[in-house]
Amino acid sequence: MKSTSIAFVLSLGTAALVSASDNYTDYLLSSGTIKLGIWQPAYDRASAFVSTLTTAEKISIISGGDAGNFSAMAMLDSSSNPLTYYFVTTWPAGLAMAMTWNQSTIEAQGKALGDEFKGKGVNLAFAPTLEPLGRSAWGGRTGETYGPDSYFAGKMGGRFVKGISDAGVIPSAKHFILNEFETNRQGSGGGGGGGGAPGGAPPGGAPTKRQSTNDTATSNTTSTSTDAYNVLVNDKAFHETYLAPFYDTVKNGIGGAMCSMNRVNGTYACESQGLLGDILKVELGFPGIVHADAGAQKSAVNSALAGMDFSSGSTWSNSSLGASLSNGTISAARLDDMAVRNLMGYFHLNQDAGFPEHAGVTDPIDVRGNHASLARSYAAESMVLLKNTNNALPLKNKKSISIFGTHAAPRFVGANTQLVVYGGLPPTMSGHMATVGGSAMGSLAYLTTPFQLFNERAAKDGFMLRWWLNDSVQSVSSGMRGSGTELTETTVGLTANSDACIVFLNTWGGEGSDRVEITNGTQDVLVNTVADNCNNTIVVINTIGPRLVDQWITHANVTGVLYGGPLGQESGNAIDDVLFGAINPSGKLVHTIAKNESDYNPDTQITQSLELEFTDGNYIDYKYFDKYNVTPRYEFGYGLSYTTFAYADDVKVVKSSNLTAGYATGARAVGGREDLWDVVATVTTSISNTGEIAGGEVAQLYVSFPDAADQPIRQLRGFQKVSIQPGASETVTFSLARRDLSFWDTIAQEWKVASGTYKFTVGASSRDFKGSAELTI
Ligand SMILES: *[C@@H]1O[C@H](CO)[C@@H](O)[C@H](O)[C@H]1NC(C)=O
Ligand SMILES: *[C@@H]1O[C@H](CO)[C@@H](O)[C@H](O)[C@H]1NC(C)=O
Ligand SMILES: *[C@@H]1O[C@H](CO)[C@@H](O)[C@H](O)[C@H]1NC(C)=O
Ligand SMILES: *[C@@H]1O[C@H](CO)[C@@H](O)[C@H](O)[C@H]1NC(C)=O
Ligand SMILES: *[C@@H]1O[C@H](CO)[C@@H](O)[C@H](O)[C@H]1NC(C)=O
Ligand SMILES: *[C@@H]1O[C@H](CO)[C@@H](O)[C@H](O)[C@H]1NC(C)=O
Ligand SMILES: *[C@@H]1O[C@H](CO)[C@@H](O)[C@H](O)[C@H]1NC(C)=O
Ligand SMILES: *[C@@H]1O[C@H](CO)[C@@H](O)[C@H](O)[C@H]1NC(C)=O
Ligand SMILES: *[C@@H]1O[C@H](CO)[C@@H](O)[C@H](O)[C@H]1NC(C)=O
Ligand SMILES: *[C@@H]1O[C@H](CO)[C@@H](O)[C@H](O)[C@H]1NC(C)=O
Ligand SMILES: *[C@@H]1O[C@H](CO)[C@@H](O)[C@H](O)[C@H]1NC(C)=O
Ligand SMILES: *[C@@H]1O[C@H](CO)[C@@H](O)[C@H](O)[C@H]1NC(C)=O
Repeated sequence: MKSTSIAFVLSLGTAALVSASDNYTDYLLSSGTIKLGIWQPAYDRASAFVSTLTTAEKISIISGGDAGNFSAMAMLDSSSNPLTYYFVTTWPAGLAMAMTWNQSTIEAQGKALGDEFKGKGVNLAFAPTLEPLGRSAWGGRTGETYGPDSYFAGKMGGRFVKGISDAGVIPSAKHFILNEFETNRQGSGGGGGGGGAPGGAPPGGAPTKRQSTNDTATSNTTSTSTDAYNVLVNDKAFHETYLAPFYDTVKNGIGGAMCSMNRVNGTYACESQGLLGDILKVELGFPGIVHADAGAQKSAVNSALAGMDFSSGSTWSNSSLGASLSNGTISAARLDDMAVRNLMGYFHLNQDAGFPEHAGVTDPIDVRGNHASLARSYAAESMVLLKNTNNALPLKNKKSISIFGTHAAPRFVGANTQLVVYGGLPPTMSGHMATVGGSAMGSLAYLTTPFQLFNERAAKDGFMLRWWLNDSVQSVSSGMRGSGTELTETTVGLTANSDACIVFLNTWGGEGSDRVEITNGTQDVLVNTVADNCNNTIVVINTIGPRLVDQWITHANVTGVLYGGPLGQESGNAIDDVLFGAINPSGKLVHTIAKNESDYNPDTQITQSLELEFTDGNYIDYKYFDKYNVTPRYEFGYGLSYTTFAYADDVKVVKSSNLTAGYATGARAVGGREDLWDVVATVTTSISNTGEIAGGEVAQLYVSFPDAADQPIRQLRGFQKVSIQPGASETVTFSLARRDLSFWDTIAQEWKVASGTYKFTVGASSRDFKGSAELTI
């Protein structure tokens, strides 16, 4: 077994460095390299069908056309909703879904979202977004992704994929790979596509049926003036940090993968046989189609050799491929492989039988069912309670409440607006922020806001409500001077006689631009001004990435802070549910909130350089803070509840008999070597609810590896969310797969379990530890 892995190394080692060669034998599904398992029947049906087709028909299939009784598949963004469609649900964005830390929730969201895609006749969804992972706090697109911990992103992304496929829709993971930044992702000259063209074409998405992007890329990839940025990262971190989450999505059933706009080791991702052929299709055993992000395909022939399987008719046609097929540069076997891969997801999910007709974007087909209530509960479940002193929250028995900030009320136009962020974006939204910008923006059919909910409650509960719908502080009254009990129209005037002052803040951003700030002076002055005058000031933040709070977090009058991602159409309802206690908050942070900007690794700041070396390797987010002993304000995994929990101090670890040191040796299968997924150890402990009300707690397992594995100090390797009644306790169980205890051996090019002592620490966050156990392998 070992010699096989070494032979693989050598071919990978060279293939990874060069662009496509004609040696693509191993990654053809027909080579038998990959054990297809549950995908075998789809392969058999697809191969039988393809064997009946002419070359012209095969070219038609791979370029978005029809063949025989196969009609081209409809494909569309995103993980938030069927983009641009009317009568669909706008779900909490990826970051918010991640903050639930609830794998059942994200799988259920995937299923419900998949039902909506299917109802609209869309075969393949460009979802989930795994890259950017969030190496940089300034990354513009982290609002649609699952946070910077690879294990966590893989688990959540994997369950989401399972949900979408259960609905019969093909999930396609993006962006493969190392697409951490938006800045220069298409190079200085623009790479075509993705421009948020008027008329509803998805910005930044890949070409879709009936919405083809004119791919302006040419085969000239040598021009430096239009090159996208190039990423260099060592092979260990490449595997352990950036590739790892894609394993979970392949294992859980993605039938598509979108190659990204950037370059890796000098080669465009969509032109790299090392990435697409050797790594994605052989190492991970991916059985589906590789297609390109807008403008990311740079050539016709080379991308086909590298491993792309689907493109638009403007790039792939007999005129661009015919001669290379005739002279054997592209073999007949490779063309068959491309066509078969296009049909794998289709047959795997039985889309040949009774799949709905592809609806037009404005067709009045309402696919929402009961999804509004699901979207509301997931949004509420995602919110993180960061601070709560003097039982400030939930709000009870108030006589007078004042609300502040543009984020409290809707934007002047809406609900479904084109949230394009190209060409620069305001870092805050002047109005309630509930979706990211770009191709995961969602097409809101309506939007609930705090302003609406507070008014409804004021009428119902009988408190007085005052509002200041501006982020700026004003000390001079603009209107007539208040007399008697009337409102004085200044920021401070609003605070008078208020039992609670709630300040709503957002950050905004999305696809196409990185962030220019992770805190905001105007908003921070607003919070401090209110807090100086109101002894019960509560801050509600919705953000697309880390938002610092140190300008006011220690202010004695800031009694509560609630922190969330973009919550989707039910945002107002969900915030109301948590503020007033209908829902007990149970979300946890999926990124670190630093005290100061300079506490984040300065190497992760946005740069205009086109050569990016990720020298931090595996040390991103909390792993960086741990390694350099930097104290964050709120650490990864942090979050409070309206109740309290006590963890048992005894943590038990039980090892399975097949947990042995050494390499993974299983057959190459869909999702990587089979034994990587074997459960090899189980860790258990228990948690009790010591408060007065029922609540949900996310228990987290952090593993410290032996030195030989060369890993960060502690890494998340398990999490379980449990609902506990007051006075009751629940057992939590973390199941560790062989993969979870493996490191990437760069010499052997294989996952390996190091021998030595492993420490298993259970905590309520990445810094709040409750007990531990050790195991020697
Ligand atoms: C192609 O790769 C296979 C297996 O990796 C190897 O056996 C073969 O020699 C390679 N062929 C060429 C032409 O490099
Ligand atoms: C063509 O139609 C037949 C009969 O309905 C069906 O079994 C087969 O799967 C279809 N093929 C494709 C590619 O849809
Ligand atoms: C986890 O999610 C499921 C499905 O949404 C839900 O029924 C369950 O209550 C959630 N668990 C907790 C502890 O919130
Ligand atoms: C590629 O682009 C460069 C820079 O624009 C140009 O000098 C060169 O001639 C082009 N090559 C081809 C083959 O078009
Ligand atoms: C990039 O090149 C480096 C140095 O040769 C190599 O170690 C690494 O594996 C390559 N990475 C990828 C993703 O091909
Ligand atoms: C794509 O755009 C280019 C440049 O504007 C144009 O020459 C070409 O005809 C277009 N191709 C298609 C298929 O629309
Ligand atoms: C496809 O291209 C090849 C090579 O240029 C040519 O010989 C063949 O006639 C073309 N086929 C069609 C159907 O146009
Ligand atoms: C095959 O045809 C392509 C396209 O015309 C050409 O670029 C390539 O050099 C040819 N290869 C051989 C081996 O003739
Ligand atoms: C800060 O927030 C204000 C108000 O939301 C906004 O107008 C501004 O663009 C933001 N950034 C800076 C640097 O002021
Ligand atoms: C807190 O608010 C009260 C008004 O309720 C004010 O008098 C006091 O100065 C504030 N405290 C601080 C530290 O600003
Ligand atoms: C906060 O201020 C109110 C008056 O606005 C006062 O009644 C209350 O006692 C103060 N609370 C604290 C904890 O100082
Ligand atoms: C390892 O053990 C697990 C459970 O104990 C089992 O599911 C799996 O098949 C075993 N794997 C091998 C390779 O024996």
